[in-house]
Amino acid sequence: AAAPGAGPRAETAAAGRGPSGDPAPGSAPIPAPIPTLTAAPASVQIVPPPAPRSSVWSYDGQVPGPVLRARQGGRFVCRFVNALPEASTVHWHGLRLPNAMDGVPGMTQAAVQPGASFLYDFPLKDAGVFWYHPHSRAYEQVDRGLSGALIVEEAAPPEVEADHVLLLDDWRLDAQARLVEDFDNLHDRAHAGRHGGWITANGSGEWRARAAQGDRLRLRLINAANARIFQLRVQGLEGWVVALDGMPLAAPAPLSRLVLAPAQRADLIVDVTADAGGEAFLISMERDGGYALCTVAVDPPRRARRGAPPAPLPPNPVARPERVAAAPDAVLLMQGGAMGGLGAARRGGVETPMRRLAQAGLVWAFNGRVDMPEEPLLTARTGDAVKIEIRNDTAFPHAMHLHGHHFRKVIGSGNGSEPAPLGPLRDTLLMGRGERAQIVFVADNPGDWMLHCHMLDHSAGGMATWLRVV
Ligand code: C2O
Ligand code: CU
Repeated sequence: AAAPGAGPRAETAAAGRGPSGDPAPGSAPIPAPIPTLTAAPASVQIVPPPAPRSSVWSYDGQVPGPVLRARQGGRFVCRFVNALPEASTVHWHGLRLPNAMDGVPGMTQAAVQPGASFLYDFPLKDAGVFWYHPHSRAYEQVDRGLSGALIVEEAAPPEVEADHVLLLDDWRLDAQARLVEDFDNLHDRAHAGRHGGWITANGSGEWRARAAQGDRLRLRLINAANARIFQLRVQGLEGWVVALDGMPLAAPAPLSRLVLAPAQRADLIVDVTADAGGEAFLISMERDGGYALCTVAVDPPRRARRGAPPAPLPPNPVARPERVAAAPDAVLLMQGGAMGGLGAARRGGVETPMRRLAQAGLVWAFNGRVDMPEEPLLTARTGDAVKIEIRNDTAFPHAMHLHGHHFRKVIGSGNGSEPAPLGPLRDTLLMGRGERAQIVFVADNPGDWMLHCHMLDHSAGGMATWLRVV
């Protein structure tokens, strides 16, 4: 069974297609006609009947938006049409693209006004699981339903019987399945962010597929929720994590439990081990027990289970820092929130009591300020190895996202001659309360790039800054 939201429209929205041996990135012809992606209000069935449909904001009338597929090395071209009642943009999360295509209003482009459109056009350097969402009042626009998957295919994908994109989200609905529109709720904003009680995969609370026992499945998970950290496990499936945040792991890691913070992605390759006639599940561990996000009905085997781990996916062309300095180039102190004990912070350069700032929804701070600074956190020259130390001095976890680059977390401290080992490439890092982390990357993408918490209420509430690469 195909994933809902992956209809025929989805397959035609691809860009940069063509025979193998695609032209160099950026030089592929523009597909004609140019595919469009339209943001507009829509009415969709999020809770099954007899519940009524819910009024949402959608891409192309679907929640989530269409699965966009393209080929690595190709060119992505798409005209974004804004049919919303307010300005918007599209941010292509996790893609290492030219700065002008990054979709940050007021920083990389002007916001696209209602009735207007914007042509996104960029080369696809990396294969992997990416996603798209607005970067304009994202805490509300994303929560109203604006998100979708962008899959960039490897030249030679691993052999599997089925490939499912599973975009996970949560919804705050009332008893009539209406979206509760308290997006500015200060309590949520100052705590763990806005959670919803209705959890969906691909917009459905009961996403289902069929597979035969022994089939190998590729599951591409995306956490599109504003703030929910998914704790996932599988049942009747056994396999491996093969990529995180779109970037292949050097070696597939056996899958047991998986934590997926907001904006993070994971590529799984799993074998169906449940008995024929039974069911296999992807389960979200909630406070009141396990919740089946995805259910796979299992048919009798049509082939023997492979069992052996898959080969690693081919690596993407991401530079690895050669020498990492001991001292960070910048320190980012995350402060504020409920129980954070922050008394005052700067807004527009003016020291202001947090109680006053909270009236404007500003409850978090980065390095003592609640608004986007005019000066970047740091300026790097193209090709510099950059190290940033992030200190979570708050009582909550946060999912820190860097635009335009993937980074690695420094694991441990190394010892003199031996450099500290580095974690896998990521674009979003979950940091526990009180945690300190150092991240390193090669700043090889010129432009102005945001660094912010992807708990979107936190970002709106003060957790946003930016870097400049010249
Ligand atoms: Cu997915 Cu700045 O965000
Ligand atoms: Cu946060």
